[in-house]
Amino acid sequence: MTNAHITLDPAFRVAPVNRRTFGSFVEHLGRSVYTGIHEPTHPGANARGFRTDVLALVKELGVTTVRYPGGNFVSGYRWEDGVGPVEKRPRRLDLAWHSTEPNWVGVDEFMAWATEAGVEPMMAVNLGTRGVQEALDLLEYCNVPGGTAWSDARRANGAESPYKVRMWCLGNEMDGPWQIGGKTAHEYGRLASQTAKAMRMIDPELELVVCGSSHSSMPTFGEWEREVLGAAYEDIDFISAHAYYQARDGDLASFLASGVNMDYFIDSVVATCDHVKAARKLDKDIYVSFDEWNVWYQSGEASKTPTGDDWPVAPRLLEDHYNVADAVVVGGLLISLLRHSDRVRSACLAQLVNVIAPIMTEPGGPAWRQTTFHPFALTARYAKGEVLKLDVRSDQVETPQYGGVAAVDAVATYDPETGDLALFIINRNAQAATQVELDLRSLGAVRVTGATVLANDDHRWAATSDDPDSVVPHDLTTILADGTLSAELPAVSWAMVRLGRAA
Ligand code: AHR
Repeated sequence: MTNAHITLDPAFRVAPVNRRTFGSFVEHLGRSVYTGIHEPTHPGANARGFRTDVLALVKELGVTTVRYPGGNFVSGYRWEDGVGPVEKRPRRLDLAWHSTEPNWVGVDEFMAWATEAGVEPMMAVNLGTRGVQEALDLLEYCNVPGGTAWSDARRANGAESPYKVRMWCLGNEMDGPWQIGGKTAHEYGRLASQTAKAMRMIDPELELVVCGSSHSSMPTFGEWEREVLGAAYEDIDFISAHAYYQARDGDLASFLASGVNMDYFIDSVVATCDHVKAARKLDKDIYVSFDEWNVWYQSGEASKTPTGDDWPVAPRLLEDHYNVADAVVVGGLLISLLRHSDRVRSACLAQLVNVIAPIMTEPGGPAWRQTTFHPFALTARYAKGEVLKLDVRSDQVETPQYGGVAAVDAVATYDPETGDLALFIINRNAQAATQVELDLRSLGAVRVTGATVLANDDHRWAATSDDPDSVVPHDLTTILADGTLSAELPAVSWAMVRLGRAA
């Protein structure tokens, strides 16, 4: 058994909870779009061909923003292929995922889906094989009300009103050697700056995201950010960060501590932004858009792309099946993102449906929740108001990758209007429970309004379409006495405790 003591004080605040922290991602990859969000022949499809069972789960998940259409896919994508009459749209090779893109879904269908799902669209432009002009054309198509070639084409295609997309990603992972049209920081920084300047000539209100590093272990990490920001700082609002985690060689202890790497990643990017700001004597801050994060078993069978002459439409790709430990890590990564709410103002769980996703579907069959669905949905639903700075004193657990790390990691949010508080906490001890004591005296008289935990004797249990819900969050026993709340968190667990003002 390990022990942890956490003090909460509503006076110590980090920043408001940003709703965009709970974004996700739909890429033309595998079955994310086709038989994921869109399957016209499914018995539950609506008139536009969208799966209503998936729409219901997206709403339950509480996703706020959805990034589209990629990902690596976008770096070879011609957005014009995806508009106009579907029967006239071309089929293209998708080089990123060695697949065939039929273009049955494009920007108009995605915008219609986003409206039905109640999410904010976040678009990416192709800066791999394309450049400033094509980005401007897409922006004109999306945001100009009418009276120009592309805006009138949108109206002719059935969308009278402009989509008013505010957030735009200037390419994707341009530092990656795998990226179609990948670039050096010098090449990309200049292109991003020119693209951003031109896009703002159409719409000065845009929020623009420049590509940061694809991972903090990229050889160019740090230098890439410095050089790209050196070229584009004044033209953009966000810099992206991407990170995927997996248990390597059975090292569960380090995997559970993945948030340590995410903390380091965010702190380093913020430091680099602030260095460029200081060196250039600038005023504005740049924020982090952590627009791809998740658990991904990247070297697993599920991630092997087709080869040779095989260029399938919507193959099963990156369909990882998540277990309880994976869900604890996802909950832990959300804790890290929330803790950095002063500088992380956008984040996307990558991805949303079928592809490394919390929601899975069977073609013609059911849609179901993976284990990772639960911590995301509960955090998105109950994280409200202000993120609090916590004092966490915890026994340590040893990890091969990060050395000694605190057995528990936690974050809390507090709504000053209602007095509601939500604490999100993980036990990273893979061997034993952790006894947690919360010092709540600064909150005055409170009561527990809910306490739930996700854990299982076998942390390798994973949901399947046949059994999606025999392990779901269940009640956590808490004892509240004299301003201290105690609870025992099982090994490898994610938990949430909610408090309200005592009546
Ligand atoms: O999300 C899967 C892939 O991971 C994305 O296409 C790419 O941006 C990243 O490397």
